[in-house]
Amino acid sequence: MKILVTGATGQIGSELTLELRRLYGEENVVAAFHRTPLPPSLKDSGPSVRLDVADRAELEKVVRNYKPDVIYHLAAILSAKGEENPAAAWRVNLDGLYNVLEVARAGGVRQVFWPSSIAVFGPKTPKEDTPQDTVLSPTTMYGVTKAAGEYLCDYYARRYGLDVRGVRYPGIISSETLPGGGTTDYAVEMFYAAVKGEPYTCFVRPDTTLPMMYMPDCLKAAIQLMEADPARLTHRADYNVTAMSFSAEELAAEIKKHVPNFQVAYRPDFRQEIADSWPRSIDDSAAREDWDWEPSYDLSRMVEDMLARLKRRLQGER
Ligand code: SER
Repeated sequence: MKILVTGATGQIGSELTLELRRLYGEENVVAAFHRTPLPPSLKDSGPSVRLDVADRAELEKVVRNYKPDVIYHLAAILSAKGEENPAAAWRVNLDGLYNVLEVARAGGVRQVFWPSSIAVFGPKTPKEDTPQDTVLSPTTMYGVTKAAGEYLCDYYARRYGLDVRGVRYPGIISSETLPGGGTTDYAVEMFYAAVKGEPYTCFVRPDTTLPMMYMPDCLKAAIQLMEADPARLTHRADYNVTAMSFSAEELAAEIKKHVPNFQVAYRPDFRQEIADSWPRSIDDSAAREDWDWEPSYDLSRMVEDMLARLKRRLQGER
């Protein structure tokens, strides 16, 4: 099986590409990257290609050359960055997805994975235990592109029989690659500051509570859904998934158990409004029923593992 990963240098892509190479063979997983150069871990472990997903001709060429059976289409601009440049968010997130779906159906690609997000929800959506099927009311350009993308994936599945699958990721916490301008980034940044022995100024209020997930569960969700029996699936690219929910001050308190001198100040900026529009917790029972989704990491296990990994990494860089 040949796999193409777009956005391979991003927060999820950089780890998912390595995991896919481990599972399906290094030579079978092509890492497509755009602006961010490939880190040695990706460059040295398998094939790679430069690709702008919004450029249809370039994408067609890559698919013609590598003939992937499966595309993990991760290239995207996140919520906060998307508010700074809505036009770029539209181009990369929606033109990019449209191109991938078109090229996939024409180029004999069997399966596409595409991540949606809790950003499809908004002020009109129930905030606690947000149901699988509910009102979508995105307020960011990122959320608009993710909501439209969900419908587009449904359309390609129905109209052309393309096997498109995806999940609505919550905030993703990871130790290898920083997220690229999302609203949930404070949860990652807090760890980096704590490990460096620096104070952290958080850009949301202490009581801001959002659904979150640790990277190993993020990778597990993608791969498990892609390998699931199609006969059991009742949804396409919009499966709710979650692992935990916590407030910014609860995360700080958990980190302080390991780094007692860690100091956090709170200075909310424009991202507060985005965070306030998103759910506090998610009902992911459809994913649990349809493809046996179950997260492995809760808050305390994640904090322990994340701190240990970051410490090792940052020490190695010195
Ligand atoms: N983590 C993303 C963001 O904050 C949500 O999908 O933009």
